[in-house]
Amino acid sequence: MKKMLVLPGILLVLAVILAACGGKAAISDAPKVAAATAAPTSIPAVTGDPLRGAKLYDIWFEELVVDPPKEVNPLWADNAKAGDTAPEDSYRCAVCHGFDYKGDLGFPGISADAGKDPNTILAILKGSTNPKHDFSSLLDDQALSDLALFISKEQIDVTSIVGADGKPVNGNPIAGKTLFETNCIKCHGRDGLVINFNTDADPEYVGTIASDGTVEFLTKLRFGQPGIVKMPANVDNNWTNQQYADAIAYIQTLPQASPVTEGGRIYENWIDALGATAPTEDQPLWKTQTNNTSLSGGDTWLCSNCHGFDYKGADGVNSKGTDGFTGFPGILNARRMSTTDLTGWLDGTKNPNHDFKAYFNADEMARMVAFMQEGIIDRSAYVDANGKATGDPVHGKVLFTAICKICHGDDGKTINFAAADGGYEYVGTIATNEPFGLMHKATNGLAGTPMVAGTNLGWYPQDVADVLAWAQTLPTK
Ligand code: HEC
Ligand code: HEC
Ligand code: HEC
Ligand code: HEC
Repeated sequence: MKKMLVLPGILLVLAVILAACGGKAAISDAPKVAAATAAPTSIPAVTGDPLRGAKLYDIWFEELVVDPPKEVNPLWADNAKAGDTAPEDSYRCAVCHGFDYKGDLGFPGISADAGKDPNTILAILKGSTNPKHDFSSLLDDQALSDLALFISKEQIDVTSIVGADGKPVNGNPIAGKTLFETNCIKCHGRDGLVINFNTDADPEYVGTIASDGTVEFLTKLRFGQPGIVKMPANVDNNWTNQQYADAIAYIQTLPQASPVTEGGRIYENWIDALGATAPTEDQPLWKTQTNNTSLSGGDTWLCSNCHGFDYKGADGVNSKGTDGFTGFPGILNARRMSTTDLTGWLDGTKNPNHDFKAYFNADEMARMVAFMQEGIIDRSAYVDANGKATGDPVHGKVLFTAICKICHGDDGKTINFAAADGGYEYVGTIATNEPFGLMHKATNGLAGTPMVAGTNLGWYPQDVADVLAWAQTLPTK
């Protein structure tokens, strides 16, 4: 429920995606028309946007795009039941008062404040009942007013939609499928696997949140995601309780993991994908050859550096690598190997020098195996002997423009991958120099980044080959 927040940088890139996703009628940035309430004659009525207040209640610092406080909230220390927390979570209204508004972790609920004069609630947010509950140095007056209006006007009894067992009340997944297709798949994909909300080490998708944090999920369905302007708020679409229950019933059936593409990113670079500490020693098998001295330390432990992005090892592009021939075999046969045999290759059973068990847990090994069994294909036909793509650049341009352009720009030059080394390397550069690397990454996403996996968009290998053909027409410098 209380997940760690992802890097703000990732959110920004995703916000860019969304900007291009063309979502319909998002919440307007401008506050809604003032909601006049029956306030005492001498005090002006609180005016603002209760729906913006709902997103502030969820994660105000994402919605306001400000840094969260770095120290744990003093209110937290006063509550022995609260346990450990990340500082930013200790400042989220929803973490203390609950997505069901009934209070969580020993903190009080706010249900009793529904229908109250927003001025009274505003005063509580400025510390009237407890000076430690004064948020006025963190949130501006309009934000506090929006919060007060939300608490007064938009709370519902969530048990009419989500039962105590976390299942929707009388939800109909067939009706829910239509709601999901109409409102969500353009950004989250048909299986809900396009956006991973968490790290590669511990992925979370729409299906995960719908099942593991159903009441929190209901909040996102009603009001959208803080800071993501284009994600729809279905209160704006006038969804009924039945529609919320239907959508939840369907989304709970969606996969909660994408083992093949997650494994593909581990194959590419497990140190980045899992946020692991790179080994300092060279991999023992790397030391068995002396020809290639271009790599050392962590780089010698990456599957892709020994077996290649064409999965052919010394029989493929690595055979004419300028950096020296390693002689390491390919793993195209892995598709036909059993789970036991493949796991044996990862945990040192097959060869004690080919042992990754100090670095991968059982779940990560399973994802690696899933990739080898289902994600490895022979892409030789998509590149000719001169390294030129054989796909259809016209179709590739359509796909590139729909997806890749969002982050890389029309010419593939928005991000310079070699900026840190003072050089330049763009999509066009990689397409020309490492065509198989580009296809692997466009298919599986890029370890440790929000780059989208073509597979999760429903792309076939030919689609990726077409994107490569277009990318090879882009500038290389
Ligand atoms: C660290 C936990 C924590 C956070 C974060 C927090 N509160 Fe509270 N809240 C409390 C506690 C404790 C009280 C009781 C305060 C008192 O002593 O009077 C309270 C009281 C309230 C009340 C009055 C409840 C009643 O008794 O009727 C409202 C309304 C409220 N908070 C809203 C908010 C809003 C909105 C936010 C986000 C800006 C927020 N709170 C953030 C802990 C928290
Ligand atoms: C315009 C694009 C867009 C549409 C349409 C959209 N979303 Fe999202 N959604 C996003 C983005 C971007 C995020 C933020 C990802 C992050 O926080 O890493 C997000 C976040 C979420 C989260 C929150 C995950 C968390 O961090 O807790 C849920 C749940 C979710 N969306 C469900 C849905 C559902 C259900 C629909 C359809 C009713 C939908 N979204 C429609 C773009 C969209
Ligand atoms: C330092 C280079 C190196 C690295 C890094 C490496 N391998 Fe290997 N791999 C080899 C060599 C050499 C063999 C053959 C060993 C033998 O025959 O005992 C091999 C064999 C295999 C095999 C068996 C192939 C077959 O057809 O029998 C699989 C599967 C495999 N590796 C997968 C992986 C995966 C997945 C990773 C990353 C987690 C990885 N390897 C990392 C060098 C490496
Ligand atoms: C959500 C944003 C996003 C989208 C969409 C996206 N990428 Fe990327 N891409 C990135 C990021 C971030 C990086 C890493 C940049 C860096 O290393 O500085 C990257 C890196 C790359 C790289 C370099 C990888 C390497 O070797 O280090 C290639 C090639 C690439 N992208 C191709 C594509 C293609 C082709 C598409 C469309 C299928 C695509 N990207 C879609 C964000 C995106």
